[in-house]
Amino acid sequence: MDQLAVILPAAGSGSRLGSAVPKPFIEIEGDPILSHTLMSFLGVKRLRQIIIAVSSDQVAHTEQLLNNVSARRSDVMFDIVEGGAERQYSIHNALRSVHNTVELVAVHDAVRPFVHPDHIEACCRTALIHDGAVLGVPAKDTIKQIAPDREIQVTPDRSLLWQAQTPQVFRKSMLIRAYESAIAEGFVGTDDSSLVERIGGKVKMVKGGRENLKITYPIDLEIAKLIIKSKNVP
Ligand code: CTP
Ligand code: MG
Repeated sequence: MDQLAVILPAAGSGSRLGSAVPKPFIEIEGDPILSHTLMSFLGVKRLRQIIIAVSSDQVAHTEQLLNNVSARRSDVMFDIVEGGAERQYSIHNALRSVHNTVELVAVHDAVRPFVHPDHIEACCRTALIHDGAVLGVPAKDTIKQIAPDREIQVTPDRSLLWQAQTPQVFRKSMLIRAYESAIAEGFVGTDDSSLVERIGGKVKMVKGGRENLKITYPIDLEIAKLIIKSKNVP
């Protein structure tokens, strides 16, 4: 079975949430969001490595948090690397630490704690057939493309619009090539797939679930608390 490494970017400032504690370290029901996310990945058999990108002041905290998690999977390597000023730079740093036995690399936002292991595995299988796979859901709102003055320019056909989530899984060689090219040419994307797409990689969308929300705004944190509380009900 082809082995998987996952990069968890966790070095953001969380400006849209506005919390004093960095988002991945906010505790819900006694555990940081990052721990909830890690637990989802530990359910994936082909997983061999987890690389977490954090800001320098969270390294010790992350090591401590891993003590509680790493004992559950002795076959998985755990690494902590320093993040960068943009999500893309955090991931670029982490890519240097991917182990050479690994064939597939997933990138997953540390602040998406509700991803299902079956969906991660589905992305891996698709990435092995193509160059990459992105977990997502069909757009529920009509999406408008606007001009800077907010005049609506285009209403794309909603049936062809999907919201891209993470994980986004790629063959290691393809993802490294995409990152080297983006960094060399000064391209900064809002997701990993866009970097692979721009070098001609074939990436497929895999249908996930709407529970795989990214904790971005205060309302997302409230929803996340409700979901975790409901899971803890005996
Ligand atoms: N991230 C990162 N390094 C950065 C920026 C973001 O590792 N320089 C991580 C975040 O910690 C998060 C994930 O990328 O786990 C998704 O980013 P996002 O939800 O945008 O988080 P923030 O950038 O922290 O939030 P905001 O954009 O509101 O400031
Ligand atoms: Mg951000």
